[in-house]
Amino acid sequence: MAIPKITAVGAYVPPGLLTNKDLESMVETSDQWIVERTGIRTRHIAEKGIASSDVATVAVQELIAKSGIKATDIELIIVATITPDMQLPATACIVQNNVGAFGAWGFDLSIACSGFLYALQVGAQFVRSGAHKNVVVIGVDIMSSIIDYTDRQTCIIFGDGGGAALIQPCEEGEQNGFIDFVHEIDGSGGGSLYLPGGGSRNPTSHETIDKKMHFVHQDGPAVFKFATRKMAEMCTRVLERNGMSGADVDLFIPHQANLRIITSAMERLGMTMDRVIVNIDEYGNTTAGTIPLAMHSALERGMLKKGDLVLLASMGAGFSAGATLLRWAY
Ligand code: UT7
Repeated sequence: MAIPKITAVGAYVPPGLLTNKDLESMVETSDQWIVERTGIRTRHIAEKGIASSDVATVAVQELIAKSGIKATDIELIIVATITPDMQLPATACIVQNNVGAFGAWGFDLSIACSGFLYALQVGAQFVRSGAHKNVVVIGVDIMSSIIDYTDRQTCIIFGDGGGAALIQPCEEGEQNGFIDFVHEIDGSGGGSLYLPGGGSRNPTSHETIDKKMHFVHQDGPAVFKFATRKMAEMCTRVLERNGMSGADVDLFIPHQANLRIITSAMERLGMTMDRVIVNIDEYGNTTAGTIPLAMHSALERGMLKKGDLVLLASMGAGFSAGATLLRWAY
C-alpha cells in the first residue's frame, strides 16, 4: 500500500479562439449576457481534423518533459472523454502509440464532466494497491465536435482542450497525496444533459442527423440547479468526514461549467474567492478537460505549493458528481 500523489501536470488547448463577439453573429446572444450569466469570454476551438488524442498527446508530452520520466515508464493510461477520436479503438490506445508508452495498458472512461475526477480516482487506486508506480490520467474533450452552433443555450458554454496528470506513489513516510473522495451518480437526471444519437439506442442514420441527435441536448436551468446544490454538498461531505471545513482548504479546483455555479459553491462552503482557480473566462467548459486545465493554470499562476490542501470538485451529465481531497505534493 502506498499513498498516491500527483507529481506532474500537462495541458493543451487548440490555438483557435471563439469569442463572445463571434457568437453574436452566429446566434441571438450578446457578450454582456454571456459574461453575466456564465463568466465566459472566449473558448478555444480545434481546427477541423484535430481530435481528442491530438490534444491529449501534447498534454502528455509536456507531462513527460516536466516529470522527467520516460514514455516507456508509463504503465497505465486512462483517458476521460465523451469525444473519443472514434468509437474504437479507445483514445487511450492512440495516445499510447503517439507518445511511445510501449508496454502500457489503458482504456477510456466516459462520465462527461466528472470524467477526469473519476479517472483520477481509478488511477490512484492502482498506485495505492502497489500495482503501478506511473499512471497517466487524461481529461480531454473536443466539445465543438458535438455542439449545435445554432443552439444558443449550449454553444456559448463549451470549448475544446484538456490536460493530463501523472500519479506516482509517495515516498516512505511522506504525507502529501490523495486523502479521500466521494463520488455519486443519479441517473434520474439523465434527461437533462444527453446526446441521443450514434449509440446503440439510436444508431447513426439520416433520421438521427436530420433530428440533430448527434448534438448535445441540455436543460440548462435543471443542470444549474443540480450543480449548485450538489457541488457544495459533495465538498462538505468529504471535508467533514476528514474533520475539516472550507476554511482549511488552500485551493479549490472546481469543474468550470459556469462562474455562478463556482461562486455559489464557494459561498456555501464559506470560502473566499482568493482560494479558487477560475479560468472559465478563457476556456469555457471543456467537459473532462476543465480540472486538469485548471490545475495547470493554478501552477502557472503560482497558486499551488507543496503541502497545500486542495479540493477538487465536479458535476455534470448523468447526473454525476464528485469531490476529491488531497495535499499537493510538489
Ligand atoms: O458541465 C455541465 C454542463 N452544463 C452546465 O453546467 C450548464 C448549467 N446551466 C447553465 O450554465 C445555465 O442554465 C445556462 C448558461 C445554460 C443558461 O443560463 P440561465 O441563466 O439558466 O438562463 P435560462 O435558460 O433560465 O434563460 C433565461 C433567459 C431566457 O429568456 P426569457 O425566457 O427570460 O425571455 C432564455 O431564452 O435567457 C435566454 N437565453 C439567452 N439569452 C441570450 C438563454 N440562452 C441565451 C443566450 N443569450 N445564449
